[in-house]
Amino acid sequence: MRDETGRNIRYLRLSVTDRCNLRCLYCMPSEGVNPLSHSDILTFEEILRLVRLATDLGIDRVKVTGGEPLVRRGVVDLIRGLKALPKIDQVTLTTNGALLEEYLPALVDAGTDGVNISIDTLNREVYAKLTGFDDLARVLSSIRRAAEVLPVKLNVVPLEGVNDGELCDLAEMARRDVLAVRFIELMPVGRAERFSYPSSDSVKSAIETCFGSAEPCEERLGNGPAVYYRLENFEGKIGFIRAMSDSFCADCNRVRLTADGRFMPCLGRSDFADAKRVLRDGASDLELTKSLERTIFAKPTRHGFAEGRQKPGRDMHMIGG
Ligand code: GTP
Ligand code: 5AD
Ligand code: SF4
Repeated sequence: MRDETGRNIRYLRLSVTDRCNLRCLYCMPSEGVNPLSHSDILTFEEILRLVRLATDLGIDRVKVTGGEPLVRRGVVDLIRGLKALPKIDQVTLTTNGALLEEYLPALVDAGTDGVNISIDTLNREVYAKLTGFDDLARVLSSIRRAAEVLPVKLNVVPLEGVNDGELCDLAEMARRDVLAVRFIELMPVGRAERFSYPSSDSVKSAIETCFGSAEPCEERLGNGPAVYYRLENFEGKIGFIRAMSDSFCADCNRVRLTADGRFMPCLGRSDFADAKRVLRDGASDLELTKSLERTIFAKPTRHGFAEGRQKPGRDMHMIGG
């Protein structure tokens, strides 16, 4: 459906858990968090009902996120259930990759259309410091395996003094394999506010110094805000998600449903509709659909990252990015 400003909203980011098996410093406290309780989290039945109603409003693509979606038991069955909804076209997954290799056959069998995998560094010690776990080898192995069976995009969040010395090595992954390496500008959500990040323009310049000029390519590789470039002799592409330096809000096509049932019209705003409460109060399909419709229609025109107070008010693992 169209929101008030005419944007076509067809993409749902579905966070299935706030839990994660890693502790990335910009996303989660290293001591862990008080996870949501079982009863606070939408059941698969509740999720499938809400998504089915959202498909009647025009949602046809779902991105399954977390926390780390693969730590929620049965997530593959949920993906199968989402794929079986008549109006759903595409279901993709964003994961940190640590558990991905063992889940790959089941994910492919369930009909997953693609995976995005986080990989902020290729240095084992830096990886362990940044994520709290010595899992780099497992993630690299997942990436190789996944690229054999599914479309793969990699997510890198450049951070000053952490991984900004290895941007070319990270981009290099798109040279040998048909995958996209995307560099994401850090958004000041929750604990990420403590970090400094280089702009996408400076990351792009650093990469061009190593590999020559990056030519914009028109092709879209997903439903997200990334802009892609081609480099000579590269099998894959590099991309930039200029979350801070460019506003892609005017073309935004998405809404979010969090694990605890908040229906959020924008990542960078605190507004939400309490879909879980409406649902558990016994609302009819029509009442639920009306609630989703009202929230989509009133979607904010842009994020509030520059305005301090108007941010989502939760860490990223509680929203799913
Ligand atoms: P696809 O291209 O369809 O795979 O989607 P995507 O790139 O949006 O998915 P992914 O889950 O890999 O997210 C990559 C980064 O984009 C994360 O840092 C997200 O937080 C960020 N992102 C996704 N959607 C939005 C959005 O609507 N607004 C902003 N500001 N950032 C977003
Ligand atoms: N800003 C930008 N990207 C972030 N991610 C997590 N927190 C932030 C943030 N504050 C990224 C993760 C993952 C993706 C889903 O979102 O690194 O790749
Ligand atoms: Fe859309 Fe909000 Fe993201 Fe902007 S910040 S692209 S409006 S979800």
